[in-house]
Amino acid sequence: MVNIVIFASGNGTNAENIARYFAGSGSVRVAALFTGNPHAGAIERMSRYGVPCRIFTREQWNCPTDVVDELRRLDTRLVVLAGFLSMVRKPIIDAVGGNIVNIHPSLLPRHGGKGMWGMNVHRAVLEAGDGESGITIHYVTDVVDGGSIICQRRCPVLPGDTPETLAERVHQLEYETFPAVIEQLAMDL
Ligand code: GAR
Repeated sequence: MVNIVIFASGNGTNAENIARYFAGSGSVRVAALFTGNPHAGAIERMSRYGVPCRIFTREQWNCPTDVVDELRRLDTRLVVLAGFLSMVRKPIIDAVGGNIVNIHPSLLPRHGGKGMWGMNVHRAVLEAGDGESGITIHYVTDVVDGGSIICQRRCPVLPGDTPETLAERVHQLEYETFPAVIEQLAMDL
């Protein structure tokens, strides 16, 4: 059994989708949700699948001995960022041997970097007049949105799109793509 831990800060629809996908799996177990936000919707969503949550303070994320200890205690092989907004420090990346991936709601390197998350990304895509958007799943390094790309999928930007309608289309791509990519990565460990 490969144990994965999901980091999420917000609503948690991707986290829930991943937990649903692996519920009852004989090969991958979502061992825990880690967050820095005690009000994250992800906490309740994951509890529906019996996935426990650990809440760490800003200080614990910045100097992550406790986070690393907990990852080790859970025998974590892969960390998955699903809407996680804090900086991931190097000791966390090292604790899982670099097996840590993020999903970003645009076609990196377009619309990535500091401050580019969630609706900010979709607004930037529309303001730039891009004809397409999509998702990028990539390894996490100490450069924000800078790790090597594992997979990208595209969708059109349609006339009359708002950040909300574009976000919905991109979310659908995320739900269809992310769990299967995680499964493949876990199998290849
Ligand atoms: C997702 O669209 C994810 O790609 C994005 O946050 C959203 C979280 O939604 N992540 C980033 O922007 C990271 N830079 P969710 O909480 O409903 O899964």
